[in-house]
Amino acid sequence: MSTRTLIRGGLVVTAADEIHADVLIEDGRIAALAAHGTDAAAGWTADRTLDATGKYVIPGGVDAHTHMELPFGGTAASDTFETGTRAAAWGGTTTLVDFAVQTAGRSLREGLDTWYAKADGNCAVDYGFHMILSDVNEGTLKEMDLLVEEGITSFKLFMAYPGVFYSDDGQILRAMQRASGNGGLIMMHAENGIAIDVLVEQALARGETDPRYHGEVRKALLEAEATHRAIQLSRVAGSPLYVVHVSAEEAVAELAAARDKGLPVFGETCPQYLFLSTDNLAEPDFEGAKYVCSTPLRPKEHQAALWQGLRTNDLQVVSTDHCPFCFKGQKELGRGDFSKIPNGLPGVENRMDLLHQAVVDGHISRRRWIEIACATPARMFGMYPRKGTIAPGADADVVIYDPHAEQVLSAATHHMNVDYSAYEGRRITGQVETVLSRGVPVIERREFTGRAGHGAFVHRSTCQYL
Ligand code: URP
Ligand code: ZN
Ligand code: ZN
Repeated sequence: MSTRTLIRGGLVVTAADEIHADVLIEDGRIAALAAHGTDAAAGWTADRTLDATGKYVIPGGVDAHTHMELPFGGTAASDTFETGTRAAAWGGTTTLVDFAVQTAGRSLREGLDTWYAKADGNCAVDYGFHMILSDVNEGTLKEMDLLVEEGITSFKLFMAYPGVFYSDDGQILRAMQRASGNGGLIMMHAENGIAIDVLVEQALARGETDPRYHGEVRKALLEAEATHRAIQLSRVAGSPLYVVHVSAEEAVAELAAARDKGLPVFGETCPQYLFLSTDNLAEPDFEGAKYVCSTPLRPKEHQAALWQGLRTNDLQVVSTDHCPFCFKGQKELGRGDFSKIPNGLPGVENRMDLLHQAVVDGHISRRRWIEIACATPARMFGMYPRKGTIAPGADADVVIYDPHAEQVLSAATHHMNVDYSAYEGRRITGQVETVLSRGVPVIERREFTGRAGHGAFVHRSTCQYL
């Protein structure tokens, strides 16, 4: 049976346009838009009408960097696909791209199947996967081709974490060469992990064990150096490059210089680098552990370069790198040794709101908000225009957003399965009111109406910027 939903009277904001329009949804897809008040829109009938007067009607967020249930540092990220995708829905995000992990010595297939099984039947919103390569060899290089055909079209490599996820320059070059042939996009964790491990050892030997030393040893210059090296390797291989979680001003400069040369190099940053800083890492009584992630938070002065990069399009995407660990029992594993604090911050629920606050604060425009949080990640990872916009034929992943609502972010009210908020007490103007995922209400006037298992796997095409 055909179902029709009508969203009336809102300001439809996409990366391209802002228009007072009514939106007609039929069978889970956007059927039509028409200017509000016109005869065309007035003539529409529907099974359900949602009043969006005074609100924004925006595409559901696309968070291209999450780690539900990621095993890390002897523990695992505390959000499951069920809790994490539910929290995403609360925050107006309707598509995630999470990272399946290859265990070193095992096949990509085995790692990917493990992640399919974790997600299948549990997700409240749609999801895809990138693949983390922990071991680049003849077998895994061949498997990359198969994964691209299967809709896993992006591969993360690490220049950090020697002995865990680390790949050396030769392995990186080989993976990039393979990607240049099969259309895959290489995503790079760009930090010089070999040098960082020396600095970690030296810091600990000096008795520098507090969380703030995590930020001190993971130097901005070592992020910039790795970013530069990754760019040069991608040039040699003739492959595109997407650098994840960029935090240092010097790394932004490397990306900007590469893009000025016309190279297919892209950069992502995350809300934590835009809104938090080394001041948080230095919080007393081990509270700084809540903010341990890699790349690390930087001194506040770096934030201006990140905002500028987002405005000038030297950075194209804001993802969360959502990788939550509870303070009690998980972050605490690193008491007395900052290198044992599991790396990662929660944020999947907060991204759309924090970026709306950035609109209110004048850092970015309303359309740029939608571009960096919805449209560009969808295009970057082969999902556009099905995801990331409101246009006829697109999936009806739609958020009714109240730009005037006031809220205070807090662990007491959030829905992520983690015992603290990285943004505790922060006031935000704007709040998600209603969320549709493929036309189905998953949040309705701030009630969760979705279900685990509604979310479907998204078979992605290759990067749409190439
Ligand atoms: O600290 C972080 N970012 N944890 C998640 C793993 C990664 O490197 O993205
Ligand atoms: Zn990373
Ligand atoms: Zn990550």
